[in-house]
Amino acid sequence: MSEMGRLAGKVAIVTGGGGGIGSAVVRRFVAEGAKVAVADVFADAAQAVAGPLGDAALAVQFDAADPASVEAMVERTVSHFGRLDILHNNAAMTDPAKHPLDTDAVTIPIEIWDEIIDINLRGYLLGCKYAIPHMIKGGGGSIINTASNSGTAGDLARIAYGASKGAIITMTKYIATQHGRQNIRCNSVAPGVVLTEALSATVPGLADIIKRHILTPEFGVPDDIAALVAFLASDESRYITGENISISGGGLSHQPHYADLLQLMEQHLS
Ligand SMILES: NC(=O)c1ccc[n+]([C@@H]2O[C@H](COP(=O)([O-])OP(=O)(O)OC[C@H]3O[C@@H](n4cnc5c(N)ncnc54)[C@H](O)[C@@H]3O)[C@@H](O)[C@H]2O)c1
Repeated sequence: MSEMGRLAGKVAIVTGGGGGIGSAVVRRFVAEGAKVAVADVFADAAQAVAGPLGDAALAVQFDAADPASVEAMVERTVSHFGRLDILHNNAAMTDPAKHPLDTDAVTIPIEIWDEIIDINLRGYLLGCKYAIPHMIKGGGGSIINTASNSGTAGDLARIAYGASKGAIITMTKYIATQHGRQNIRCNSVAPGVVLTEALSATVPGLADIIKRHILTPEFGVPDDIAALVAFLASDESRYITGENISISGGGLSHQPHYADLLQLMEQHLS
């Protein structure tokens, strides 16, 4: 089978499908032959992604924080496309007004902690809760959860975000373990910095700092994540489950002193 037909006949849900990474995954899934529900809290963002893809895509508005809404989104997908094979849990709380409030244990408002955990973590559990029975009915499936490198190492801010992403990595292993015999695979992908429009606009200074710590010449873009997610969704990865795959230009693959040492070496050579 050609690479572009790897997902032929399969039906997928992409949550946060209206956003930077999610929309790249939607387009890649469709290019590889899948039918895709573009699920997002913003109906117009979902429609903007689904519209140009014609019958291959369906925009579905839903709120990851609301169990009834997640269930309705899954049911709508199955009633429209007739089955469900792939779930890409990818939505995350992205309200720019609330991000700065996700700080540290002492200062974070507890309602911000709850909201982030509800959307980022519980929302993924809910997606699995309602999707897995349909996958089992169809003979199996693949779940790909978007985690983050923030889930495997500490940082100076965003304790709730980091905790939600760490828990996603662990939850992924439980789902893989508990449903493996039903032919359900579950993996997480952990991006480092990925240049989305939103990120380029908000933290150019941060991007410069992080760039000193990656091993590749350039940052990744949403299409890089989409390529990995499509592989994990396809049968080509049928022997991979319960894994967390970092996709971050080697950002966590070197000694902590790497960037400082590199700078020192460059100074000596100049
Ligand atoms: N961009 C990066 O550098 C980066 C790095 C690591 C991990 N990630 C993760 O990648 C995923 C996608 O992020 P992105 O960079 O494309 O951001 P994005 O803001 O472009 O996309 C997130 C999408 O989730 C949707 N969303 C937010 N709240 C929702 C809710 N309650 N219900 C349903 N949908 C909701 C948003 O509307 C948006 O379309 C997220 O899980 C994020 O944590 C991103």
